[in-house]
Amino acid sequence: MPERIFVAVAWPYANGPLHLGHIAGCYLSADIFARYHRIKGSEVLMVSGSDTHGTPITIRADQEGITPEQVVDRYHAMFMESWDKMGISFDLFTSTQTENHEKVVHDVFTTLYDKGFIYTDNMLLAYCSQCDRYLPDRYVEGTCPHCNNTRARGDQCDACGRTLDPQDLVEPHCSICGTTPEFRESEHFFLKLSAFEKPLLEWVEEQDHWRNNVKNFTRQFLRDGLKDRAISRDLSWGVSLPVEGYEFKRIYVWFEAVIGYLSAAVQWAEANGGNWEDFWKDENTKSYYFIGKDNIPFHSIIWPAIIMAYDKGLNLPYDVPANEFLSLENQKFSTSQNWAVWVPDYLEKYDPDPLRYLLSINMPESGDSDFSWS
Ligand code: MF3
Ligand code: ZN
Repeated sequence: MPERIFVAVAWPYANGPLHLGHIAGCYLSADIFARYHRIKGSEVLMVSGSDTHGTPITIRADQEGITPEQVVDRYHAMFMESWDKMGISFDLFTSTQTENHEKVVHDVFTTLYDKGFIYTDNMLLAYCSQCDRYLPDRYVEGTCPHCNNTRARGDQCDACGRTLDPQDLVEPHCSICGTTPEFRESEHFFLKLSAFEKPLLEWVEEQDHWRNNVKNFTRQFLRDGLKDRAISRDLSWGVSLPVEGYEFKRIYVWFEAVIGYLSAAVQWAEANGGNWEDFWKDENTKSYYFIGKDNIPFHSIIWPAIIMAYDKGLNLPYDVPANEFLSLENQKFSTSQNWAVWVPDYLEKYDPDPLRYLLSINMPESGDSDFSWS
């Protein structure tokens, strides 16, 4: 019996071109894996898409004086060209902008809301009086309360990997202008993650085939305790809330982006006369999530919790092969600091295969690795 394999690959933010760190982080390994399975005769569906919401995109639009749509369109087109030239063979590379995505997200949201796994409560949100705006989580910087890293962001600390809320940070400041934000009270929707702490722990303990880094990280994260998390924001850019009276809020980007793995399969089926349920509901199908290590909790905890809460027979991830980071001349890749080798630039001058080869033998699978021109 040929195997059926769902290859889910992290959705890149459409706020800048791809760089080699992205390729080494998940796209190349996913592509090699998918090609291996196709050659072997497995039935493969490999999907991803542009992550088009969230503030990285609105900030970029503000900086350039254009609309978020224009930012998204530009980089989505660049992604498509890069996949084509690099030979990254998605069956579907879509985006979170589609009507289909909104429909699937609304269905998941409504189902969880009706079951009480999503509820409303008041929360404090960072507001910068200097910038005159609510600050997206990742634009609040400060010191991590867990590990004292002074450059933690309001969504996550890259040093210890824990997810954070902006008000957890010690000495928070606006990353755009440096002002200390005020925290204003606002009503929001919360995902009842706490209800899934035990089932997730039991599930993770059974995953003997997971990489040690992913399993240990996930286990530790769960042992620290799961808190309910806000999944709406005071923004005008993003997927709308399917509940009346919240027209000025949007669904938090991470909640809807992970649902993209499901909506992309539905879209692929509609376009190709395929059956998405084969890839999502047949328990013999194995799903692999190729991601960078900074995305681990969203794929090994939050997305599985949403699938459990939804409770419609969808497969949990079979594996979450997360790579470590690739650096460039021993320095962290940085889109904002323009420290990167951009994929479109590379491909203008050189063929894809030498790069695929080099990144394959240096892939940061069990530890960080480095790219240098020499
Ligand atoms: N856009 C995110 C990042 O670049 C990854 C999102 S993966 C998703 O870190 F599936 F959740 F969308
Ligand atoms: Zn500010």
